[in-house]
Amino acid sequence: MEILQRGGVVALPTETVYGLAANAEDELAVRRVFAIKGRPATHPLIIHLAGVEALPDWARHIPPEARRLAEAFWPGPLTLVLPRTPRATDAVTGGQDTVALRVPSHPVALDVLRTLGGGLAAPSANRFGRVSPTTAEHVRLDLGDDVDLILDGGPCTVGVESTIVDLSSGAPAILRPGGLAAEELERVLGRPVPVRASSTVRVSGSLASHYAPRVGVVLVEPSEAIARAESLRLQGLQVGVLGPARLALPRDFVRFDIPEDAAGAARLLYLRLREADMAGLDVLVACLPPAQGLGLAVRDRLARAAAPRTPEA
Ligand code: TXA
Ligand code: MG
Repeated sequence: MEILQRGGVVALPTETVYGLAANAEDELAVRRVFAIKGRPATHPLIIHLAGVEALPDWARHIPPEARRLAEAFWPGPLTLVLPRTPRATDAVTGGQDTVALRVPSHPVALDVLRTLGGGLAAPSANRFGRVSPTTAEHVRLDLGDDVDLILDGGPCTVGVESTIVDLSSGAPAILRPGGLAAEELERVLGRPVPVRASSTVRVSGSLASHYAPRVGVVLVEPSEAIARAESLRLQGLQVGVLGPARLALPRDFVRFDIPEDAAGAARLLYLRLREADMAGLDVLVACLPPAQGLGLAVRDRLARAAAPRTPEA
């Protein structure tokens, strides 16, 4: 806590992924977060709050639908984009008139937030463009001595980043599918909440090649996985397969099993991508889950992992 009050940078667990946290009102500390991540200053950060009652300190206009979502899903894997108050500085928002806010549900994060009493600006605790960390060990491997402290709260239970919903103007829209299913949002709001493919705001997760492991990734439907893996192997490549345990894979392939249910797949996805990276493969054949529930977020992250690298990432 003292570290954060003095302007330090602390990696801490949330239920989604580990975050790299700084006092949101300390501009120097926030700039250090950008520097450690290697992230362009124009890509805004999420401010984490201790509870829904802090919302008016940071958002100057709270539409009824935002309040309903906050009350239904906070603490939890939901981020709301709303018009900001001056407390949300340019350093955090990248100069935009909106701010991204969320209340995480991990007890360690909540504990820190309650003691600090303010907001914590925290992106995922990985280098820009790489796979997000879901254990303290991942953070250590990625960022090591660059951070002042790493709090270990065990493996993240959700495993993919929060769902970002824009409620800053007009109808709600999903800017990034994540750990809260679209169906859940729709159930509470009683109307469709579409995914907005392109927006004028800079969502770094929307860069095509974000969340990229180093190994090349090929996307397939589960029914095509074995045939595709075979044909890649015949080209002389070392092939791994990421998919459900029921796949009857020949022994020539390194397998990375993920659960069949979408929530289970989300929880283990980044761990498996890291394992695949370390296995010295030429290519990873990745099975797409159905696009329901958290399957939407898993498909989104796999698609980014498979996208060609851009210099920016
Ligand atoms: O689950 C999560 O959301 C994790 C944990 C640590 O809370 N955090 C996370 O942060 O994923 P980060 O920085 O990796 O992603 C934050 C996303 C970025 O894509 C950023 O562009 C978007 O939030 N964002 C932040 N402020 C925004 C704004 N005002 N309008 C639109 N998007 C915004
Ligand atoms: Mg991130």
